[in-house]
This record gives sequence, structure tokens and C-alpha cells, in this order.
Amino acid sequence: MTNKITSMAEYYQKYQESVANPEAFWAEIAESSFWRKKWDKVLDWRFDGPGAPMVNWFVNGKLNITENIFERNMFTRKDQVAIIWEPNDPKEKEVRLTYGELFDKVKEFANGLLKLGVKKGDRVAIYLPMVPELAVAMLACARIGAIHSIVFAGFSATALADRINDASANVLITSDGGFRGSKKIPLKDIADEALESCPTVEHNIVLKRTEQDVKWTEGRDKWWHDVIEGVGIDNEAEVMDSEDTLFILYTSGSTGKPKGVVHTTAGYMVFSEYTFKNVFQYNDGDVFWCTADIGWVTGHSYIVYGPLLAGATSVMFEGVPTWPDAGRFWEIVAKYKVNQFYTAPTAIRALIAQGNEWVTKHDLSSLSVLGTVGEPINEEAWRWYHDLIGGGKCPIVDTWWQTETGGIMITPLAGITPTKPSLATLPLPGVQPILVDPEGNELKGNGVEGILCIKFPWPGMLRSLYGDHKRCHETYFSMFKGLYLTGDGAKRDEEGYYRIIGRIDDVINVSGHRIGTAEVEDAINQHPKVNESAVVGYPHEIKGSGIYAYVICEDLSEDEMGTIENEIKATVTKFIGPIAKPDKIQIVSGLPKTRSGKIMRRILRKIGEGDATNLGDTSTLLDPGVVEEIITGAKVEVKR
Ligand code: WT7
Repeated sequence: MTNKITSMAEYYQKYQESVANPEAFWAEIAESSFWRKKWDKVLDWRFDGPGAPMVNWFVNGKLNITENIFERNMFTRKDQVAIIWEPNDPKEKEVRLTYGELFDKVKEFANGLLKLGVKKGDRVAIYLPMVPELAVAMLACARIGAIHSIVFAGFSATALADRINDASANVLITSDGGFRGSKKIPLKDIADEALESCPTVEHNIVLKRTEQDVKWTEGRDKWWHDVIEGVGIDNEAEVMDSEDTLFILYTSGSTGKPKGVVHTTAGYMVFSEYTFKNVFQYNDGDVFWCTADIGWVTGHSYIVYGPLLAGATSVMFEGVPTWPDAGRFWEIVAKYKVNQFYTAPTAIRALIAQGNEWVTKHDLSSLSVLGTVGEPINEEAWRWYHDLIGGGKCPIVDTWWQTETGGIMITPLAGITPTKPSLATLPLPGVQPILVDPEGNELKGNGVEGILCIKFPWPGMLRSLYGDHKRCHETYFSMFKGLYLTGDGAKRDEEGYYRIIGRIDDVINVSGHRIGTAEVEDAINQHPKVNESAVVGYPHEIKGSGIYAYVICEDLSEDEMGTIENEIKATVTKFIGPIAKPDKIQIVSGLPKTRSGKIMRRILRKIGEGDATNLGDTSTLLDPGVVEEIITGAKVEVKR
């Protein structure tokens, strides 16, 4: 495979080259892609100044990402399996789509979209379960130059509507329902509710998956199978500019309003393919499985785009790790002889808790590489993953990256970089991390800890926040002039390896998903009895961080006291989705505030962690008495 590093010496050499001359480095990699027209200039950029951030990679290049997945691979891989789809229910038959078959489905659905009048630049929201049509839908959008905005199918109607409206999408693609373990999720009903407040949506394309009854709005709703009826598979890809938007993906930030991260065509393409090949050291013929949902960036880059660009065989799983039993992941690994397996620490911890017998009864000898993503992996989980799942013989790649980075940034190269438990190790070639102190001074040398920033553009980076370029600059490029701010704290150890410590902002990493505290507070405050709330993260054995909500309510009756917690949880589920549901709710009469009215989250965080030994000076608070009350009523045992 081209552009694949094979030794540590080569890594260091490539890394040096990529810093000394980033343009030459990335141009050489991009040469192996299929271009309708090559770029005039590799990179144009500015993190500050007028219109910043301005980042243009492969300037004036013309291409279509699906031509790089399909046309480019068609001679050699027409009959090779591209996607192996494993259904939720193991009794249902799996689906294997070859590159040729997937290509036909993509062209057909692309033609269906064209027939509806969908054009280049239109925003298409996708709210689907993990079925092959999800990949088909996103690739069909890319084929015609429509911008996909995938919304994780666990989000609520309100959250879906917010995202559709922010992007003013004119098409929604959903299904009658979705299977998730023993449950059936009524996706069409949820979408119907969302669409009541989405005036821009003209077409709602509905895939049949669960065969459950659905309500129907004539004119707006169209069955997927009717959309593709008679359209055929002849389809020419739309020619895109390198910097045309490929997709939007919403993620949480410090305010309640989700951010529509914008990724463009050529840079994202080059970066996702390069990182996929190198990090996982994928070899032709291997079977790669990333367990993420395509609703998150991990699924975009490492179920669909990265693997398919590299001509890999990618497994896509509809279900959950613990249904019908806790051995499901390992059963699937054995069934398809998976070589590279990529999952989240939270899943590993949840499975550790189920016992080793679920693992040992399956044959995991095909595995050669294990990966993790989404949050720091604790040493115990790392050991279990390494020793039991990998049989002690598989390198673990702890990959650090973000929705905004488009692909993996700091990571070992599987089997090449010597690893240490819970360290993401070294930056990939082309990635230039820097640690700074809160004043923005660079922390040089090893053995330092600070705020992780990136000082030079990389092709997969975000270009904007949809509809709010100014917010993009404010959020990522204004805290430290000339640097991209990741929002994470990190340590560079004596050897120069990076350890990611966690978020430095008001974002909680729950089961590897980013949840903004403000977002949860806004949802809680929708409950009519709630006056105010403050949300913090606390250490959670399985989820990494749990959500702890301190809530002020107005005069609750005895009965209401008994039901309020469940009602608050239901409110959050309604406004965001079950992933943001607080794990602990404490009803309080006040919150620790400064005299200027700012909530002292640090104090709430310490109490949530069960530690009140070092709260600092609380005497300057508006009402110091509330701290004592909160400690006494805390939902954990608090050390004083
Ligand atoms: C945040 C990004 C990138 C795909 C999944 C999450 C945390 C991510 C690691 C890791 C420690 C990690 C960071 C980051 N994170 N990977 N290997 N070690 N922390 O994407 O929702 O955009 O979240 O996840 O805090 O900023 P995301």
C-alpha cells in the first residue's frame, strides 16, 4: 500500500519532512488520489486576520471523493467486499456488499436524490440506524455534492430539529424504526415530531427497516424504495472543488447551541485515508471493524471514508455489545475473522464488568491490532484489552483526535511505535502539537503539562462552524493567537510521549461522547418546576465521566419530591436524548456563587467527586452556607 510507514526510523524521517516542508509532504500523499484536476497550490492559510480561520488545502483542485472510493478501486476491487453488515439480531442474515454492489447502490440513490431536485450544496440531514443504507445515503450525497449532516439516531426530536434548522436542510433521510438490542426505536415518529418545527424540509425519505406502522404526510414523505424506483445506476459524479463542503457534523461546546463542524472535500479525503492506513497498519485483505456509530465522527472517518478510500473491508454493526449477550463483540470478531478492532474505553470497561467467560469462549486469534478512541483509557482497561482480547500479542493504538480534527492526530502506529498504557504517544506526520500555559507561553522540552494546541494546519481540520464563521474563530483560534485550541489538557512525558488528561472547558466526556454542561442545564431548566441548575462531570466507573446535576426547584410538595428526579431525567431525554441524562440529581436550595453571580463549578466538581477536603476559600461566596448543605445532601459519600 502506498504512503504507509513501516518502521520507527521511517516515522521519524517522515515526521521531520512533514514539519520542514508540509506542502511537499502532503502533496506527495495526495498524488495517489484521483483528481479531475490537480491543485495549483498545496496550502493557503491564516489562523488570524481577516476572514480567519482561512485554511485551503489543494487549492483549485477538482475531484469527487466517491470517485476515489469507487472508480479508483473498480479494476482491482469490484468483487472485493467493501462493507460487511452485521444486523442487530444475530438470527438475521448479514449483508456483504462488494465495491461493485455498493457503487451501484450509491449511484442509484444519488439518482433518486437528483430526481427529487437535490442539488450540489443542499444540506441533507440523515437520521438513520446503523444499516448499510446509512453509508449509501452519505456517499450518494457526496456523489452529487450535497452536504450530509448525520444526526446520531439516539438524539431526541428537539435535538434533531435544532440541527436540521441550524443547517436549513431541505431533505431528511430516516427510517420507520431502528433495532437496538431488544428495543425498537420509533425513528419516523421522532422525525415527524421534529419536522413539525422544520419549515425548510421539503422531502422526508423513509427507509423500511423494522416494518412498524408509521404516520404519513403526503407530499413530504417518500419511501426510499419509491425514490429509487426506475432511476437506474448510470451516474456521473459531480465535480467538486477541493474546498467544497463535504459534510457538517454537530458537536457540543461550552454553550447550549451545538456547533456544526464543517469539513471540506480534498483535505478530509487525503487525511482520513492516510491516517487509516498508517495508524491501523491495514494490509490488503484484512477485515477492519470500528464499533462506533456513523452518527459520530469516528464512524464517518473509520467505518466509511477512511477504510473505503483505502480499499478496505469494513465491518458495520447495527446492534449493541451486550445483546443478546455480553459476548456479542467477540462473536462478531470470530465470525468475520476481524483483524483490526477499534472501540471506546467505555465499551471495554462495560464488558470487563460482565466477566471473562464471555470473551474466552470465542476464537479471537484473527486479531492483530486493537484501537481505542474517545477518552483516556485507564490502565486496568488497557491491560484487560491487551492481555485478554489481544492475547498479549496485539499492539494497542490509543488514538487521540476530535470531531474538529477530522481524523486521528496523536497515536501510536500499530506494531511500530512502542506503546505505554494510557498514552496516546506521538503525533502523526503532518501534525504539530504544542503545549502552552494559560498565558499562551509555549512549554518547551519534555516532562511538561499544559493546554494542548496545534500550531500548523493539517488537511483534515475543520474549516468553519456552519453559518457562524466568527464563532469558529472565537472558539478555536482566539484564546491563543495563531494556534488551534483543542480544549484538552495534556502532558508530554520524559520521552516526548503525549498523555491526554481531559477537557479544560465545560464539556463532559460521557462514554466517549462530548456533552456540554450548558446544553444539559438548558434542558433541565425546561422543566416547569426548575429554577436553576448546574451540571458537572464526576468520575464514573464505566462511562469515564458521569453527569451530576445540582438543581434548584420551586416549592415542591412531598409527592413532587418523590418524582422530580425522574421527571428531570425525562426532560433531558426529551430535549437532547438519553445520552445526556444525568446520572445523579441533587435538589439544592442554592448554588455556590461568587458575588458577581458566577457559579463556582470547581466546588461542585469536588463535591461530586466525593472530596470536600480542599474546597479553597468559600467565605467570599454570596451564600457560604449552601456549600455545607450541598455536602450534607450529596449523592456520594463526601470526605471532609
Ligand atoms: C474529545 C473529542 C474523536 C472521536 C471520538 C470523540 C477526547 C478523544 C481521546 C483519547 C483521551 C480522548 C478528548 C477530545 N478524546 N480521543 N485517545 N484519549 N481523550 O470525538 O466527540 O469530538 O470528542 O474526546 O477530550 O477533545 P469528540
